[in-house]
Order: sequence, then structure tokens, then C-alpha cells
Amino acid sequence: MSAPVAATVTSLMSAIADVGTDPIRGGYSRPVYSTAESSLREWFLSEAAARGLCAETDRNGIIWAWWNPADHPLEDAVVTGSHLDSVPGGGAFDGPLGVASALVAVDRLVARGVRPRRALALTVFPEEEGSRFGRACLGSLLLTGAMDPAVAAGLSDDDGVTFAELCRSNGLEPAHLGRDDEALGRIGRFVELHVEQGRGLVDLDSPVAVASSIIGHGRWRLTFTGQGNHAGTTLLADRRDPMIPAARTVLDVRRIAHVHRGARATVGRLVPTPGGTNVIASRVDLWLDVRHPDDVVTERIVYEISEAAASAALREGCGVSMVEESLSASVDFDPVLRDRLRAGLPGVPVLPTGAGHDAGVLAAHVPTAMLFVRNPSGVSHSPDEYVEDADAECGAEALADVLADLLTTDTLGTDTLTTEAKE
Ligand code: GLV
Ligand code: MN
Ligand code: MN
Repeated sequence: MSAPVAATVTSLMSAIADVGTDPIRGGYSRPVYSTAESSLREWFLSEAAARGLCAETDRNGIIWAWWNPADHPLEDAVVTGSHLDSVPGGGAFDGPLGVASALVAVDRLVARGVRPRRALALTVFPEEEGSRFGRACLGSLLLTGAMDPAVAAGLSDDDGVTFAELCRSNGLEPAHLGRDDEALGRIGRFVELHVEQGRGLVDLDSPVAVASSIIGHGRWRLTFTGQGNHAGTTLLADRRDPMIPAARTVLDVRRIAHVHRGARATVGRLVPTPGGTNVIASRVDLWLDVRHPDDVVTERIVYEISEAAASAALREGCGVSMVEESLSASVDFDPVLRDRLRAGLPGVPVLPTGAGHDAGVLAAHVPTAMLFVRNPSGVSHSPDEYVEDADAECGAEALADVLADLLTTDTLGTDTLTTEAKE
């Protein structure tokens, strides 16, 4: 899978097009540390090596590949990257586009003869989607100390494999997971390029945008419990079927979200136990994803859903419990860095996003920015996600412009983060 240096985004993306294809769901299923994602990590390492980048994997499983031709100290570095894991049946571009574009951007910096005044690192973050362990952005949450490493180590996937076990089998010591001030302290600026996951750029007729913000988002698990029983012999009046309040709750989620302008609320996963056609379930788990630009409104929506679920459970003689699995506040990207990107990319629009990213986690610690590349389908987390070749190259060129500016400026200058936020 190694490619000649001075590749295009399209050639790099083609080289990984067969990795992790999902014949059942369509698209790609590349859970963190699966054979597919591990093979993409190997691909990245070989592409980095082909460019003479010096790669290391840190104690949280984040890959850093350094381009540092003048041997600058690894502080105040410019860092760019994304992730290689996917949602189940996801698209080709969510994550890998940012990684491939970062590699191409290095090629372009070399071709332009850029002489960097500080180091550049290309990063790959593990478990950005949270599709294996339920916590999105697990790698950056661990890096920044936003997640308790003991809790992370104890998370288990659908097969009962714990994150600690998986870390060990991938050469990481679970006891060493957690906040890494040395790694975090090296980041002067972070820029993530990502496929746009909506229609913003289609409507604006532009190939690239600079991000303004990420709306707050969180995940909750609701567990409805009832009485498992026989589908043929149990009269309707005698049932305590947890599927009934689960189904009502799915509809209530939509109803409640409609009341709060700008809200998004989704039930994308529902698991009945034991899960037989002729079996009344004894338990139904469902996972709720709620997002709103105003964190107070997110809280209100989740409260209303919890009340609706409790009343639906009561009507059926069932029980329900609700656990918050993750919650990320809304993020406004650093305005100084955002304006710097805009100045260097004249005419490029500024867009908010409803999708979460490692950049959103890092934004609380270092000045952070994002670039979005047009997705003509406007669809993401689906095989229909798409990027035209020309737009992909345009995105890499924009990223190279941004990196060249940040790498060659005298000082990275002031930013709007408080000292407290950086600590
Ligand atoms: C990740 O893409 C998310 O927004 O959930
Ligand atoms: Mn992503
Ligand atoms: Mn995603």
C-alpha cells in the first residue's frame, strides 16, 4: 500500500479503498484496533516513512509523525491530523480524508521549498467515532485529561473485550493511559481537515470552508426492563414488554427535539435481549444522541426525554434507567486562528458543524481550527458520503497554505485561550 511521495489525495484514498469494506452494511466498518483500522495505521506509518517523517505512538495510542527538517525543538509545533476509525457502515472520507490530506500537504510543502521555523506533526487519533467503546474522541479525551483513564480502561466492546485488554494487545500499557502534558504541551496550533458532513458547502458552492464552531453533543444509554416471555402464550394484558416503552421513547425523542429549534436527537441503536422473533424481550437498551448549540437546551431536552421514558415504562409495568455516556459542550474555535485561516484563504466561507471532532476536544487546550471539504451528497456516516477528486486536492492545497503560513511565521502570536484553559 505504500505510494510514491508527492501523491494526490485521490491516489492515497484509492490505496486504502479496499480496507475494511463492509459487505453487509455497505461502506466501511473500521472499529478502532480492528484488523482494518490497524492496517490503516500501518498504511499511514509507511506513508510517513516514505516521506522521511519520524513517527511515534504515544501512551494513549495517538500516532505523531514529525516533519522537522531543521531539527527545531518539538514545542510550539503545528499539528494536523484526523482519525482512521469509522462508524459501522460509514463513508470513505470521515477521518481518512484529513489524514491523506495531511500527507499530501507535506508533499506540497516540500515541493514549494517551504523552510519551516517550527516542527510539524501529523496525527492519527484512535476511537474518534466511539463506535467500539461508546466514547467518541477517546484518544483526545485521554490526552487532555478530560477522561478518567481508569474508566477508559474498563470500557468494554460488544464482545466483552475491555479497552485495557485491547491496549495491551496493541503494545500500550493501560496504566500509562491518561493526560499527557508533554505531548499536549508540544502543540502550538492544531488544524484538522475533515469532509463536510452536511450540505453547507453545496449550498454555498464552495469546495472548502473554515469551521466556526461545533454544537454541543452527548450520548445516553437507556435500559428498559420487563418480563421476558412467550410470544404466543402471553396475553397482551399480561405483558410487561420493554419494547413498548422503548418504541414510544423513540417517537418521543423526535417529538421533543421538534419543540427545541436547532435540536438534533437520534436513536441509532436499539438492542433487545434476548432478541428472538417469538420472544417478548426481557430488556431493551437504546442509545440516544442529542445535540444543540445551547448546552442548557441540550440538558433540557435530555431531561424531557428521561421523563417521557419513565412515564412510558410505567404504563407498561416496566423499569427504565438512563446513564450519560459522554457529553461535550459546544465549542467555538479560536477566533484569532480562524481569522488567520480566512485571511490566508480569501473568499472561503465559515461554517458551523453538528459533528464532533478531536479538534473540538483539543480546542479547550490549544488554539484549534478546522477546514471542511465539500461533500456533494451532503450525507455522512453512510456509504453515500462523497468528495469529488478536484475538491479533495483543493482541500489539501488549502491545508498546505495554512500549514505553510503557520510554519513560517516568526511567532505563532497571541491567542484567545486563557492560561487557565491551557493548564
Ligand atoms: C462523530 O462524527 C460524531 O459527530 O458523532
Ligand atoms: Mn470524523
Ligand atoms: Mn464521524
